[in-house]
Amino acid sequence: MKKQRIFLLMASLLGFVIISCQENEPVNQLDQVPVLPKQVFNYNTSGDLPADFQMELSAKAITVPEHTSADEIQADVIRTNDNQVALNIDDHVATLGRVLFYDTRLSLNNTISCGSCHLQQSAFADPNPISVGFKGKTTSRNSMSIVNPVMNNNMFWDSRLPSVRDLVLEPVRNHIEMGMEEMDKLEQKLADVDFYQPLFEEAFGDQRVTEERIGQALTQFLNSMVSFDSKFDQGKHNNFSNLSPKETLGKDLFFSNKTKCSSCHAGANFSAPDGRFTAEMINSPNINGLSSDLSFDPNPEIIDEFGFMGSEYGGEVKGTANIGLDVVYEDNGKEDGQFKIPSLRNIELTGPYMHDGRFASLEEVVEHYNSGIQDHHNLDKKFKGDDGLPQRLGLNDTEKDALVAFLKTLTDVSFVTDEKFSDPFK
Ligand code: HEC
Ligand code: HEC
Repeated sequence: MKKQRIFLLMASLLGFVIISCQENEPVNQLDQVPVLPKQVFNYNTSGDLPADFQMELSAKAITVPEHTSADEIQADVIRTNDNQVALNIDDHVATLGRVLFYDTRLSLNNTISCGSCHLQQSAFADPNPISVGFKGKTTSRNSMSIVNPVMNNNMFWDSRLPSVRDLVLEPVRNHIEMGMEEMDKLEQKLADVDFYQPLFEEAFGDQRVTEERIGQALTQFLNSMVSFDSKFDQGKHNNFSNLSPKETLGKDLFFSNKTKCSSCHAGANFSAPDGRFTAEMINSPNINGLSSDLSFDPNPEIIDEFGFMGSEYGGEVKGTANIGLDVVYEDNGKEDGQFKIPSLRNIELTGPYMHDGRFASLEEVVEHYNSGIQDHHNLDKKFKGDDGLPQRLGLNDTEKDALVAFLKTLTDVSFVTDEKFSDPFK
């Protein structure tokens, strides 16, 4: 049952990949060959990962026996012989993933690729509130940005899948469960394309095109999308002396108990605080380089046997929250108006905002938290005052401007201009 539901949801997202449609005039990209560098790009940035990233990822690290082939390793993060945390990324596999991500062949009428809805200049979000997919059909939600997806334990606005690996493979597998044959057709379609043969060979040792390999390649490419060079990140090395007074005020507000922004948009990825805080981290004086400002206080008693925080987070938040957008939700998200707590990295570039793209600007978002939170029986407790009513922060214009200015320090220009993540068909 659950799988069927996931399939239906995925079908609306990736329907273009799976469900046939001939009504649209195909935009013919088929004569285009990807332009790739002679020497593969370096996708495995494990060695450069900042300490807080490493610490968060260490909870997921799995030890893999030596000489396991690229086909076999299903882990996203591995522990190396010298006990270091490393991303499981092979440059050739990720290169193949890049090509697949941007190839419209993945849709049956050759019009849509992942990159059609996840645009690099928009930090892999879509500047439209909802995206146009296959056959001109629209998605029911706003396309999400993609940033450090390997750090996340909940994917999609309703948090229905735990990882990129599941996200990429589920539609494929469910598709087969549903008894459709298009996936075979996709394998055949790609196998017949000249430029894919050497790409599969370099990635996996032979030219066989399989759905598992397609999934593996997309996963590794997505997992390679690591971003840690924003102005904020740079500031961690100089006590934030690179931030203007306005940005500094915004930072202080963001990490304050007054706004509580950082208790939900938490950790190195400014995203859902679920399951990522290990015993080691909780005892660490330095998450985000901002320990003294941290307003959240994880309860070590709820760390389970794997060293993960349980689903309870300080008794209140897991990966999703109801932030009082509506009195009655049209889309209930996970349940009762709870939606994924998304990463705020590159947020300047990913508008419009929220699951339905209702806010065009960061100013509107901040005004929502300041004065617009609606009462709802499932409204997150963090937003309720002592009287049980929705909070009214009462920020003045200077403070609101400052919060927006701080959010803009989370933009990583190198990430959104890096050629290794760009469309190779252009
Ligand atoms: C037609 C537009 C469209 C296409 C094409 C598309 N996506 Fe998405 N993507 C979305 C939307 C909309 C969401 C949010 C869906 C939801 O929450 O129900 C999303 C969510 C995601 C997420 C979740 C991010 C997070 O932080 O939770 C990832 C990862 C992703 N897509 C990757 C892909 C990949 C890989 C492909 C190609 C195989 C792809 N997308 C193709 C629109 C699209
Ligand atoms: C109780 C947890 C919680 C707190 C506290 C919180 N947020 Fe959020 N935030 C969320 C959730 C959940 C969403 C997505 C809601 C949706 O789309 O329905 C969100 C969405 C956002 C978005 C839009 C993200 C996107 O990709 O569209 C921004 C920007 C944002 N929050 C900033 C802030 C700021 C600034 C503060 C502090 C004033 C804050 N948040 C406090 C949970 C929280």
